[in-house]
Order: sequence, then C-alpha cells, then structure tokens
Amino acid sequence: MERILAPSILAADIMRLGEQVEEVRQAGAKYLHIDVMDGVFVPSLSYGVCVVESIRKGCDMVLDVHLMIVEPERYIEAFAKAGADIITVHLEACVDVKDAISRIHSFGCRAGVTVKPGTPVEAVEEYLDSADLLLIMSVEPGFGGQKYFPEATERIRQAAELIKKSGRQLRLEVDGGITLDNVREVLDAGADVIVSGSAIFNDPGNNAAAFMKVLNRYGAE
Ligand code: DX5
Ligand code: ZN
Repeated sequence: MERILAPSILAADIMRLGEQVEEVRQAGAKYLHIDVMDGVFVPSLSYGVCVVESIRKGCDMVLDVHLMIVEPERYIEAFAKAGADIITVHLEACVDVKDAISRIHSFGCRAGVTVKPGTPVEAVEEYLDSADLLLIMSVEPGFGGQKYFPEATERIRQAAELIKKSGRQLRLEVDGGITLDNVREVLDAGADVIVSGSAIFNDPGNNAAAFMKVLNRYGAE
C-alpha cells in the first residue's frame, strides 16, 4: 500500500497557511491533517468548521479531520458539508461509535476511529468491519510538539495485526511526535499514513520532501 504523508497544520504559521499548504502539497503530501480541539476532550482549543471550509476552497488535498471533541456526532454533518474527506472520532468521546461511523458514511466521507494512548488497542476491534481508517495516537492528544511515546510502536504492531485479522483494507495512521529520526520505526511497525506537525512546518517544503523521500523509498524496498 502507498505510504501517505499527512502534515498537521497545528504547527503551521496561520498567517501563511495557504502558502505552507501549497509547499507540502508540491512536495508530495496527499493528506492534510486538521486537528479540531474543544478545550474539553483535550485541554487545548484549536479551530472548527469554518477553517475546514476555507481550506477546502483553496486546496484539493484529502482533508483528514481529527476530531478531539466530546460527542463528535454533533458535528459530523457540519464537517462533512465543510469539505472533510476523512473524519476521525475518538472512541472515548462518542456516545455511539457505530452510529458515528454510519453518520460519517452517510455524508460520503471516510470514517476513522482512534483511541488515546491509555485505551487498549483491542477496543477498536469491533469497529474495524465498518471504519476505513484506524489512527493510533503516539502522544497524548491535545498538543503538538510532544515526544513520541516509545510504547506506541507495539500498539501500532497490534493495530496492524487487528487490521490483518479483519480482512479489510483499512488505512493505519499514526499521529504524534513523528520526525525523520523515528519515521522508519513507525513504518516498520505497520503504519501507512504518517502525521507530522512540528517536524514539518518549520520548513514545510524541504521537510515534507525529506519525509516523502523516506516514504517513497520505503514503498519500493
Ligand atoms: C496532537 C495532534 C497531532 C499534532 C501532531 O493532539 O493530534 O496531530 O498536531 O503534532 P506533532 O507532529 O508536532 O507531534
Ligand atoms: Zn491529530
């Protein structure tokens, strides 16, 4: 499966967002990872529906919206209509995960499921027959620029096993603390979508190109 880079705009310079997104797109990134935080499910606040809507108007990348909000079901329709392509929800935040997945599908989007580092990976198993993407968090959600949790590598392996067992072609995305120094470890564990924020946006074009080199070579090995 093709390995995909998903730069997280949490680390972007908002005043130059359009320019920086264009740089990562030209470098070969296919997804744009958008972290939505409500100050309740996670301590931080980030941005909401109108930011996705605005990015959609100027960007043809796959918009990968990571909802770190309580009861994400309330906002699925709004993010779908704003132009999200993938909507990922936390099991810990949903009232009814199956219902959230079917709502996401009903608006023509791909559905992602994820868990915080403290939730056992097996908790996602019952949703793998309907979700399109499984996201493993390699930091505690809420902040960019944290260090990769070494325990995440084993959780990625476990997730890859569960996907294999499901017999379905889900994407396996990993998010948090990924740099050029540990991205191979994450790929080796089975990830195929790599989220990275702070290791990209200090020099978006060059850093995204360096990640893409690793991802493309990895696919060809
Ligand atoms: C953390 C977010 C991440 C974050 C990643 O809650 O979900 O997507 O932006 O940023 P880095 O790569 O800096 O850890
Ligand atoms: Zn994220």
